[in-house]
Amino acid sequence: MNIVICNNYGELSKKAAHIIKEQINDKQNSVIGLATGSTPLGTYSELIDLYKKGKINFSDTITFNLDEYYRIKKDHPQSYDYFMNENLFNHINIDKKNTHIANGDADNPNDECESYNKMLDSIGGIDLQVLGIGSNGHIGFNEPAQELSARTHLVKLTSKTIEDNSRFFNNVSDVPTQALTMGMADILKAKKIIILISGVNKAKIAAEMFKNRITTQVPASMLHMHPNTTVLIDKDAASMLP
Ligand code: PGA
Repeated sequence: MNIVICNNYGELSKKAAHIIKEQINDKQNSVIGLATGSTPLGTYSELIDLYKKGKINFSDTITFNLDEYYRIKKDHPQSYDYFMNENLFNHINIDKKNTHIANGDADNPNDECESYNKMLDSIGGIDLQVLGIGSNGHIGFNEPAQELSARTHLVKLTSKTIEDNSRFFNNVSDVPTQALTMGMADILKAKKIIILISGVNKAKIAAEMFKNRITTQVPASMLHMHPNTTVLIDKDAASMLP
C-alpha cells in the first residue's frame, strides 16, 4: 500500500479530488466507485470546485456507490441516494442515468443485489474506488465477521456501526439495522483504490489496519492484497501508526 500522510483534512480532500480528476481526465467513461459518510464530504466539495473552474468534466463518468441502508426510501434525508445528490451529483454535469446506487427500498433485496452485480459486471468493473473506513474497520458495509461476502449482499449492521451512524438520525432506534453493500471481491477488483482516513477517532483502527496481517475481523486489512491502493491519511488518524 502506498501511504500518504496529509497535514490535515483539507489537504487530504484536495489530494483525493486530484486523483479522481486525473482518473476522469485520463480515461473516457471512467467508472468511479463512490463512498458516503463524513470523510468524503471534503473531497466532493473539492470536486464541485474543480468542476466550476472548468477543470473536470463528468459528462461521460459512470459511478457506482458502495452501499445503501435497507430499508430506506430514496427521498429520506439520510439515504445515500439523497446524500449523493445533495453533496455531489446536483452540483456537477454528471448524467444521473450513469449513477448507480442500490435501491434500499426494494421489496426483494436479494434480487436487487443480483441486479446490481449484473450492472457492475456489464460495465467491466471499477476503475477507481473511493473508500472510507468505519471505526470497526468496515469498508462499504462489509462488517467485521468470521466470513465476508464476495459480491453485493444484504448485511446486518453491527451495533458499533449503528451507534456511529446514529449521529445523523434523531434516535439510535431510527438507524436502519441492515444495508445493501458491494462485497469484498467487488471492491478488490477495482483497478485502483484510494482509502480516506481522517480524525483521531480513526487512529486506533488505522493502526490495526497497518499491522502486517489480513483478517476478516478488520475488513480494511484485506486491502493489503490489492496491488494499487493508496491510503490518504491525516496526521490525527496516523497518530498511532508505528
Ligand atoms: P465516516 O464513515 O466517514 O462518516 O467516518 C466511514 C465509513 O463508515 O465507512
